[in-house]
Amino acid sequence: MSEQQLIQSDIALSAEEIQQIDAELAHMPQKSGAAIDALKIVQRQRGWISDESLMAIARYLDMSPEALEGVATFYNLIYRQPVGNKVVLFCDSVSCWICGCDGVKQKISEKLGVDYGETTADNQYTLIPVPCLGACDKAPVMMVGDDLHTNLNNEKIDQIFSGQVSTTASTTESTAESTTTSEEEGS
Ligand code: FES
Repeated sequence: MSEQQLIQSDIALSAEEIQQIDAELAHMPQKSGAAIDALKIVQRQRGWISDESLMAIARYLDMSPEALEGVATFYNLIYRQPVGNKVVLFCDSVSCWICGCDGVKQKISEKLGVDYGETTADNQYTLIPVPCLGACDKAPVMMVGDDLHTNLNNEKIDQIFSGQVSTTASTTESTAESTTTSEEEGS
């Protein structure tokens, strides 16, 4: 089947997404080996993985939707619900906890009006806990979008989210809690 035929038969994936997934498949002995990469590629384009996107990826990788859902659920940086314009990945693991991340998290919640799994009312930020961001020597740390913020304190939170008004949040569901950003970066 030609690439054009594939695009037509699998209209939920864009040509660009298929091209990027194919590049990953070139390194894999089995199509299912590209599952996480394919999820990340589509999420990068669409912001999150809808049921429709998941079905399309599963079809393209010759996987069952249930098997791919298992991968997406295991990997906590795959979002199965819509998220804000930027995801705040807040480390609550041991080094950051010792350095006072609980107080920093409370400050963020007050500043943004959200708890874990919630998105600000203006859809700017979604707050999600992560096990470790690999910057333990600069704890407490978090990522806001692609930017790493270190040695956090209340003043830094005010600076980072300056102008943000706390209002009623909406709940956003991320997935499981067993995978680290180090895996994200290394995959
Ligand atoms: S424990 Fe927070 S970055 Fe490692």
